[in-house]
Amino acid sequence: MIPFSLAEVAQVTGGRLHGLDDEAAAALVVDGPVVTDSREAGPGGLYIARIGEQLDGHQFVDAAARLGAVAAVTTRPVDDLPCVVVDDIQEGLASLARAVVERHPHLTVIGITGSSGKTSTKDLLASVLSSAAPTVAPVGSLNSEVGVPLTVFRVDPQTRFLVVEMGARGIGHIAYLTRIAPPQIGIELNVGTAHVGEFGSREAIAVAKAELVQALPASGLAVLNVDDPAVRAMAGKTAARVQLVGTGSEAAVRASEITLDESGRPTFQLTTPGGSAQVSLPLHGEHHVGNALAVVAAALECGLPLLDIVGALATATPASRWRMEVTERADGVTVVNDAYNANPDSMRAALKALVAMGGGRGGADTARSRRTWAVLGSMLELGDESTVEHDSIGRLAVRLNISRLVVVGDTARPMASGAQHEGSWGDEAVWVPDADAAFALLTEELRPGDVVLFKSSRDAGLRWLGDRIAAMGADDDGTDDSREGTT
Ligand SMILES: Nc1ncnc2c1ncn2[C@@H]1O[C@H](COP(=O)(O)OP(=O)(O)OP(=O)(O)O)[C@@H](O)[C@H]1O
Ligand SMILES: [Mg+2]
Repeated sequence: MIPFSLAEVAQVTGGRLHGLDDEAAAALVVDGPVVTDSREAGPGGLYIARIGEQLDGHQFVDAAARLGAVAAVTTRPVDDLPCVVVDDIQEGLASLARAVVERHPHLTVIGITGSSGKTSTKDLLASVLSSAAPTVAPVGSLNSEVGVPLTVFRVDPQTRFLVVEMGARGIGHIAYLTRIAPPQIGIELNVGTAHVGEFGSREAIAVAKAELVQALPASGLAVLNVDDPAVRAMAGKTAARVQLVGTGSEAAVRASEITLDESGRPTFQLTTPGGSAQVSLPLHGEHHVGNALAVVAAALECGLPLLDIVGALATATPASRWRMEVTERADGVTVVNDAYNANPDSMRAALKALVAMGGGRGGADTARSRRTWAVLGSMLELGDESTVEHDSIGRLAVRLNISRLVVVGDTARPMASGAQHEGSWGDEAVWVPDADAAFALLTEELRPGDVVLFKSSRDAGLRWLGDRIAAMGADDDGTDDSREGTT
């Protein structure tokens, strides 16, 4: 972190010192990791004691001290380390993070929101920006009122760019995050139906997502996906300059001539106000094109030359796990593990990528076409829309001519009935109760040359299933499920 004395930590958080006097607090400098998990503590660091649902972080202050933390922020006095005692830990986290950003005038903060693709875009932008200058971005999908401050604390005096993923489960959440890390650039990817159960309506989601561009200063830049009408409409809600990105003719940063190779990786013609280029992405699925356009607009605004941006895009590797993670098995089966999360939009995107990887746009009769399997679990947080949305994904799988649909678990069951109503017959669409049953079916029936997609909402069972199926094929014993994660 940027160095702070403990006296300054007390001042910015409005907390009181315990265990040391003012003079000692002014001399005690925190410049190591600021963490809420004592196991991540380190020399010179600050431990923040949160009280979670299961555990009280105050029990781990001594553990943090043993790993080198020099002070703690707590809500009650603790004697294991000098501490700053605050009334509200969340407010303490938020105000300290804000102070870090304010102390770093040369930092450019880029906020990213949307219903789908925040983490994918964050990873892509971080890899492009870090090719030019030190960049901090969240690990995995830290996008909440705790995750954003923890990301901010990783900024050090050399950091030039801070990429912040901003998630929302209600009105006001993104506005709160923008007060912690005020962005100069705001990327709005899409307004979908993720978490519609909590928001109540898609309109409410649009209102919540617009809070990012509303927080931008006049000197800032709003990057808006022109292909999503709800995002396009946000142009009228921001004081900042607007850069439209997408495939529509209005887009200043535009993709055309999009093609997918046999692995579902997109190539497209990129047009920007500063020049054109052909871009090939090493990521799978057409939905990454829109994410990449937003990255191009933000990186141009950060001052990177177009050719450097295009070069960095071409070498980007997926940094977070279970997002269109492709494994080619030795026996010729291709496994696509996209089981990190799912909502109707990302389900549709993944199914289309599966079709491309199968060798065509639904044509099961081309010479190079492969059998395609969609192993789909439930989409959560859809509220009243749940049955209809699952049903329509099942229907889409049939319309796309996916060879086999395996629906896993009770909530997802309407996918199977939707597929049947759309005209699937026999065993094309089957329902199984759980990942174990899906595993048994797949080990029995997968054949060399098949492409199999795994996707569901935050379902450890499906991630495990995808990992396990990916690890098979060489020896076919199915016992190696130990692939390392990167998140
Ligand atoms: N632009 C997009 N449109 C639709 N789906 C997308 C898009 N970008 C990524 N996806 C897919 O959506 C799923 C979630 O992606 P990602 O984790 O990047 O989203 P997120 O917005 O960070 O989600 P979360 O709200 O869970 O943090 C993945 O399956 C990914 O392949
Ligand atoms: Mg995310």
